[in-house]
Amino acid sequence: MNARNTLKINQNGHLEIGGADTVALAEQFGTPLYVMDEQYIRDMCAAYKRAIDEEYGGNGLVLYASKAFSCKAVYRIVQEEGIGVDVVSGGELYTALQAGFPAEKIYVHGNNKLRSELEFSVESGVGAIVVDAYSELDALDEICAEKGVVQDILIRVNPGVEAHTHHFIQTAKTDSKFGFSIADGSAEKIAKYALGKKNLALQGFHSHIGSQIFEMQSFKLAAEKLLTFAAQLRENTGFEAAKLNLGGGFGIWYTDDDAKQSVADYAENLKSLFREVSGLADRKGLRRPYLLVEPGRSIVGEAGITLYTVGAIKDIPGVKKYVAVDGGMFENPRYALYQAKYTAVLANRAAEKPTETVSVAGKCCESGDIVCANVSLPRACSGDILAVLSTGAYNYSMAGNYNRNPVPPVILVKDGRADYIVKPQTYEDIVRNDVIPERLR
Ligand code: LLP
Repeated sequence: MNARNTLKINQNGHLEIGGADTVALAEQFGTPLYVMDEQYIRDMCAAYKRAIDEEYGGNGLVLYASKAFSCKAVYRIVQEEGIGVDVVSGGELYTALQAGFPAEKIYVHGNNKLRSELEFSVESGVGAIVVDAYSELDALDEICAEKGVVQDILIRVNPGVEAHTHHFIQTAKTDSKFGFSIADGSAEKIAKYALGKKNLALQGFHSHIGSQIFEMQSFKLAAEKLLTFAAQLRENTGFEAAKLNLGGGFGIWYTDDDAKQSVADYAENLKSLFREVSGLADRKGLRRPYLLVEPGRSIVGEAGITLYTVGAIKDIPGVKKYVAVDGGMFENPRYALYQAKYTAVLANRAAEKPTETVSVAGKCCESGDIVCANVSLPRACSGDILAVLSTGAYNYSMAGNYNRNPVPPVILVKDGRADYIVKPQTYEDIVRNDVIPERLR
């Protein structure tokens, strides 16, 4: 059912993930429950790494974009698979370092990094900081001067390729808070400015064109824009970029509207992108750059499912049927934010054919609190275990405590074994930082 087929229906007619029966998991750990399949994450990391090794002579590094799913255990898994990570906040950096992740394989992103985050990054000895503002270049140069270090940096540029799933558009003027436009000369201008900074070593450029993209042509076009820019910059300044970071964004299966790709397919796609870069660099007389890619969603997305218990059911004749579960927008805000689509399964009756179309509602006090709309299910009853698939990316990482609901725990399954990687939040955790000042007592 997913790219590695670790999601199955077992002899009891229950949904199984990573060799573990989801009904038993729900019983043991309670619901709502995020479940992550360890082997899936490992296989994706390994496939991406192999693609660089085999197609590009190992002259590059895959960075797991940890905004997709960040906790100590995932950094440990990724480290064991020999790839790097991208972090976008002091919190992600702290978590990675706490897990023992080697700092030199950490790349730091963000369009408005705080001075404290820049200091933390430099002190930690991160591999590179991807700069996205003039003010950041100034602050970073100052920090490095104080500390007597030279920091490797990349600059985020905007190649003018905007991709959305199966489509992409080329724009000369991109309205984005990220990056500096190649087309209007801003990228060259900031690159020259960076080259004048004594305590910063410009290594190259980064671009990220979007997320949930299936069309490899859009990545190839962005790569072409980057290499053309690199060639032009060399001509104008003599500086040749040693590293190019092509960002992340490879799409995953959520519903049958999306392509279902195997782990091997992802690796092949990446290889074809590397081939394109090699060819382009050769044609432009550039040295083949050290290449970075930053997949997040495609490494963890299909590795995860969320388990819920069905509660209230409301059938509004001629309108809609709502099946409410014990989760909601506090643990998966993606429908509320993006009208995201998902596939749902009754985990305890997984072999039954769907008979109706329903909306899965959450328990928050808000009409927009839907987990997924228009999903096909057998007739659900209170007490059924409902699984929503492909929730490994941007679910736990985007969760919050709206309505003071505790964030559900995350368990990691492998070969039928299940362990907490994030423990359940308690009501006590929720009030931990609350203070009643003296004057209110
Ligand atoms: N690199 C950069 C600089 C990024 O901004 C992102 C994602 C990635 C890599 C990883 O992209 P991925 O391979 O995961 O598509 N919350 C949204 C997704 C936001 C993505 C933001 N940047 C969602 O739930 O769909």
